[in-house]
Amino acid sequence: MPVRTIRLNGEETSAEYQSAGTGDDQASEPLLYWLRERLGQYGPRFGCGVSQCGACTVLVDGVPTRSCVTDVHTVPDGAEVRTLDGLAENGERHPLQKAFVRFQAGQCAFCVNGMVMGALGWLEGRIAAGNRAVPSADEIRDFLSGAGEDNDRNYLCRCGTHTRITAAIRSAAEEMVR
Ligand code: FES
Ligand code: FES
Repeated sequence: MPVRTIRLNGEETSAEYQSAGTGDDQASEPLLYWLRERLGQYGPRFGCGVSQCGACTVLVDGVPTRSCVTDVHTVPDGAEVRTLDGLAENGERHPLQKAFVRFQAGQCAFCVNGMVMGALGWLEGRIAAGNRAVPSADEIRDFLSGAGEDNDRNYLCRCGTHTRITAAIRSAAEEMVR
């Protein structure tokens, strides 16, 4: 089987992946399965499997990516892949993780991986572009619905906790832009 090497949460990591065909006809196992089953990353979840909910989101070179519909072979060797599993640093939770706990932003919590990783990519992208304004509730709602100017992917919470999720993202953003 072919092997892919990435930087997973800052650590060089290699694993085999299933693949068939070559060139444009190549197909390989989804990044989601590869991360969960071969690399022990249990943050990303299988929700819909068809790029509709965001539960499987990871960051690939900083870009929120739906790992359920991303073949491993399309992820470049050496890509920086970040997962929820690696978000805490030195035992300290990321501001987004702390805010989701503080606001109890979830019922079943199945969507939370996507909410946190999607918001992380979105907020870090804004900050990298020089926008250090705390997003308004409307901007966060546009982010969640995929209607924002800088985001075309929606993030679905089947339990309907979007109000708390919006408050948690706004609170975390206040800390992230400081
Ligand atoms: S599981 Fe990937 S978008 Fe729903
Ligand atoms: S808290 Fe259940 S899907 Fe969001």
